[in-house]
Amino acid sequence: MTNPDPRWALIERLPKAELHLHIEGSLEPEMLFDLAARNAVAIPFGSAEEVRAAYSFSNLQDFLDIYYQGMSVLLTEQDFFDLTWAYLARAAADNVRHVEIFFDPQGHTMRGVGFTTVLNGIEAALKRAQAELGITYRLIMCFLRHLSEEDAFATLAMAEPHLERIHGVGLDSSELGHPPSKFARVFARARALGLHVTAHAGEEGPPEYVREALDLLKVERIDHGNRALEDAELTQRIAAAAITLTVCPLSNLRLCVIGEMAQSPVQRMLDAGLKVTINSDDPAYFGGYVNDNFRTVAEALDLGPAQIVELARNSFTGSFLPIAEQARHLAEIDRAARG
Ligand code: HPA
Ligand code: ZN
Repeated sequence: MTNPDPRWALIERLPKAELHLHIEGSLEPEMLFDLAARNAVAIPFGSAEEVRAAYSFSNLQDFLDIYYQGMSVLLTEQDFFDLTWAYLARAAADNVRHVEIFFDPQGHTMRGVGFTTVLNGIEAALKRAQAELGITYRLIMCFLRHLSEEDAFATLAMAEPHLERIHGVGLDSSELGHPPSKFARVFARARALGLHVTAHAGEEGPPEYVREALDLLKVERIDHGNRALEDAELTQRIAAAAITLTVCPLSNLRLCVIGEMAQSPVQRMLDAGLKVTINSDDPAYFGGYVNDNFRTVAEALDLGPAQIVELARNSFTGSFLPIAEQARHLAEIDRAARG
């Protein structure tokens, strides 16, 4: 028998933070089915296997159409609690110690689900995970970029009574045709309220969208950022400013952002001195959680242990945790890296 690759044990043992996770994208087909039955919501599938078979996408929009359809089963605070708790239990199994979770309030309020129903359910699970699983968290509210600036402002207004419970804002959904500039004023308001700011950019959109996210939205992180690599000057700037990129390898593959895992930008980003992290994005739809993403990219790019450790370190130094807490996790990473 051959010895297993020691990198797999390293990946499992390393403490990690997940910085790019849409909680609605962690809705596994089995839970989709259970919630559809519980809430008497009709779904166009006969079994969880049929649902999985439908998860074949040729681009971001293909996925988003199914993702918004999946959300239709989420109605009550309990539903949002169950969804979030299932993700956190799964993350704990991957030795994830800190999560910065995205949620899409507009995907729910537009269906008549109350903003506080969503927030209460998600937060209750996060608080329980902090107490019982030792996972710390930040909560990031995303604006759907295919909707209007006005709609984003209205959503921010709904969040304002709850600012001690929401830590940041992000920008997601259909990227092409919806540049960051569309939301410059909303993000200015969010920053003025003391919220952290991040945005999806350069997943399908051009390097110019990444530049706009930096210059106009003044983001602290870039979610994805793949296409920044097409622009050498921009790449250098992101490296010099130590802006964290939250890359999602399995998502990139399943949304055809890359043709095969060997084309993942992770190695090129590391080589360019970029602060890259590994994340699962929408794990129920893309076929893997954080450790699956680490393994697939380490295998395809032949990453060594030092690079795997660097990716785990970046997940904490790129987080919104205070420096002292980051340092505590980094010390644990050093211990885990020594084996
Ligand atoms: N990109 C844009 N919007 C999204 C994504 C993504 O990867 N996942 C969920 N909403
Ligand atoms: Zn995403």
